Amino acid sequence: ASDVESDLVNILFTEEQIQAKLKEMATQIEADYAGKELLMVGVLRGAVMVMADLARSLHGHVEMDWMAVSSYGSGTKSSGVVRILKDLDTDISGRHVLVVDEIIDTGLTLSWLISNLSSRNPASVEIATLLRKPEALAMPVEPKYVGWDIPNEFVVGYGLDFKERYRNLRDIGTLAPHVYS
Ligand code: PRP
Ligand code: MG
Repeated sequence: ASDVESDLVNILFTEEQIQAKLKEMATQIEADYAGKELLMVGVLRGAVMVMADLARSLHGHVEMDWMAVSSYGSGTKSSGVVRILKDLDTDISGRHVLVVDEIIDTGLTLSWLISNLSSRNPASVEIATLLRKPEALAMPVEPKYVGWDIPNEFVVGYGLDFKERYRNLRDIGTLAPHVYS
């Protein structure tokens, strides 16, 4: 296989910057949830890297669970249809839930997920996302923890894919034009 790192033309965030940012976010989260037990809910599949690194930056009692949702109801994301492909294994009633994702784009995924999880009587539900695209936001989503706001550009790496590739890159960046052609 060829070296996919060379398909990244413009590195937005390096591995070091990402890890430093997650430690900052973890410090804030620890202060806010002092004395409480957190249930982190990762959104498959993009959030796997953020979840693994953010969870390991936290020192308190933390549980992890996962959901998989599909926002491709009838072909495109703009259809606005979200389905649960894999539900939580945990009963979240009375729990402090922190939904973890790597990016908020239109907000469709997380606005739907938050209203779904809120109906299960958790003690609290908040969102931590590494990236957010304010210009692309179409649904109301208010993450409590945001790593960086980025321009409305297609980015890959650190969980973010193009046709399921590039999720395993340690940095986040944009793809060279030749990749698309
Ligand atoms: C991506 C990303 C976020 C979501 C953000 O997931 O990981 O979960 O889109 O977009 P939105 O704010 O417009 O909903 P995707 O549904 O592509 O699946 P994946 O996590 O498996 O890559
Ligand atoms: Mg996702």
